[in-house]
Amino acid sequence: MKKKYAIDNFLHMAHGGDYNPDQWKEYENIVDEDIHLMDKAGCNVFSVGIFSWTLYEREEGNFDFSYMDSVLDKLNAAGKKVIMATPSGARPAWMARKYPEVLMVEEDGNRIKYSARHNHCYSSQIYREKVKIIDELLAKRYANHPAVIGWHISNEFGNRCYCDKCVAGFREYLKKKFDSDINKLNAAYWTYFWSHEYTDWEEIDAPGKVGGRENSFMGLSLDWARYCSDKQLDFLKAERDAIRKYASQPVTTNFMEFDFDKYDYCKWAKEIDFISWDSYPMWHSEDAEYTAARAAFNHDFMRSLQKKPFYLMESTPSLTNWRGVNRIKKPGMHMLSSIQAVSHGSDSVLYFQWRKGRGGMEKFHGAVVDHYATDRTRVFKEVSEVGCALEKFDEVVGSEVKSKVAIVFDWENRMAIDVFNGFNNEEKNYADVCVKHYIPFWENGVNVDVIDSNADFSEYELVVMPMLYMVKQGVEEKIEEYVKNGGNAVMTYLSGMVDENDLCYMGGFPCGKLKDVFGIWNEETDSFYKVQKITNSIGYKGEFYSAEDMCAIVHLQGAEAICTYNKDFYASSPAVCVNKYGKGRAYYIAMRDKNGAFLKAFYRDLIDELKIERSADVADYDLVSAHTREDEENKYLFIENYGSESFVSGDLNLSGVDVLTGETVGEEINIPAYGVQIIKTKKENM
Ligand code: GLA
Ligand code: ZN
Repeated sequence: MKKKYAIDNFLHMAHGGDYNPDQWKEYENIVDEDIHLMDKAGCNVFSVGIFSWTLYEREEGNFDFSYMDSVLDKLNAAGKKVIMATPSGARPAWMARKYPEVLMVEEDGNRIKYSARHNHCYSSQIYREKVKIIDELLAKRYANHPAVIGWHISNEFGNRCYCDKCVAGFREYLKKKFDSDINKLNAAYWTYFWSHEYTDWEEIDAPGKVGGRENSFMGLSLDWARYCSDKQLDFLKAERDAIRKYASQPVTTNFMEFDFDKYDYCKWAKEIDFISWDSYPMWHSEDAEYTAARAAFNHDFMRSLQKKPFYLMESTPSLTNWRGVNRIKKPGMHMLSSIQAVSHGSDSVLYFQWRKGRGGMEKFHGAVVDHYATDRTRVFKEVSEVGCALEKFDEVVGSEVKSKVAIVFDWENRMAIDVFNGFNNEEKNYADVCVKHYIPFWENGVNVDVIDSNADFSEYELVVMPMLYMVKQGVEEKIEEYVKNGGNAVMTYLSGMVDENDLCYMGGFPCGKLKDVFGIWNEETDSFYKVQKITNSIGYKGEFYSAEDMCAIVHLQGAEAICTYNKDFYASSPAVCVNKYGKGRAYYIAMRDKNGAFLKAFYRDLIDELKIERSADVADYDLVSAHTREDEENKYLFIENYGSESFVSGDLNLSGVDVLTGETVGEEINIPAYGVQIIKTKKENM
């Protein structure tokens, strides 16, 4: 098990974040002051230059890198490392004024005025050219700078452009996909509906507010989503190549959440050297378990993209400023949320941002250095504690998270669920449902990978595929093979219904062989109004659970019912069933268990039955989770307490050394509210 690194020329835990000294260039000594504080906070890595284009090129073609040179040299002299950014996330005002085409056109057909950021046209040749020039200059200049350990392409790519060039590109994309045969497109999109058949490629517009066909022809909407994702990816690749022409450090771009709708991160992951992402969970919101588990799910998704450690590129040391309500982190939560990322495979804890600006819309966003500019704030102290902890973690860098369970979250499936009309349109909640299926593993201390439906299933004991509405080519056969060879699969209502173009499969749901694999036929799907649910309608091992939002009525065709509905006209029809197929088992959950209580009971039994390893036996403790990373010699166990009470237990049967204190772990574990303990065990002692 050789270690795999996010950045293989930096084998320490990275701690630091976005550093924007150029906002402070009129303040003499600011960088020196910052470095002094960085040392105090135990910070070693900074992302620099993310929004610095005007600093470099105040006038077109007239470049000046002297300020950035001095920043990098000072950071280097102080032993700090830099992830150097390309500045394409925002551009100078002169550029937009002179070349309006660099700005994107919105869905309503209007080109935006110069504003904000993340709003370029990815087809604009001028923009591509300008970005290439600045990227190559930066790459050439800083390729051999001793501080630079990686490259940060742009920032949170996140827009779609509806300009004529982009739409013309879409037509070309479709021609290629449908072999220049417009009738193939008509068939795939079922345009016979409402007499919308296309007779010429020029008739095709982007679906949207003006394009009109949004939500009428799902295939068109899906292809538009795929095209926009690919087009922005192409933009990213051009930036990556400009950097790689001169520099050899690994390249990343910072992703957002797993269910970000604009781009297919699974596809994007193949084009960058390491994954990084920006995490802003709603700590201290009403549902502490959901918040913590969703954050964990995100980390697992990011790690699974390349199956190696990733970088937490941004997180807030305290609060955000862009939510309706922005809570600060309670004492301890900063350490816990930071170590949570590490426990799921991050080799960094980085922040947005190092120092709060005096102006602009993010001046009240959390930062390590507050406007008071002292090391005496609570936030600064808690950041410094994270710094101290991470210094003890170098040996964890590059270690692996091994999972025997996978949850499928699939971007194309997500987009398809988003656009179809039917069943419970108000409560589709695909992402949320995936998290609900994940929570039982999280609370049982079971490591989980989050993969897309194209991934290899063969290495997992259990693959859970909530709401796999779209079954892409080859996936049906793969699931069949997987179960036949001894795998365990879970599927739910709204599964196996359409192909990649959102055309329904004929011959009953779930599609094709999946009816045999799961041993059922799903005939109808009922949906409930918000105030309705069929309360206590499903009995499982002496307890009763409620079905909400959606219920499917299925017929057994070989499967056995594990539990049945006991209300409504479908009382006694199966709600959950299992089918033995080949050497494996296939489970079908026909109803939505919105609060997750049934899922907890069901998966807990499955974990026991399949003897899936728990990192620690924390299942009986609310808001406590456990995860492991490992290398050839050691296992690192992370026990995390998201509760507002201490977690005390004498029956976890743990041994090893506490990585933070160096002390041998006794029988009793005592972790304070929002606390975490990391225990190292030598593998030979296990
Ligand atoms: C994003 C951006 C940052 C900053 C933070 C604030 O993650 O990448 O530039 O705006 O949000 O939370
Ligand atoms: Zn465009």
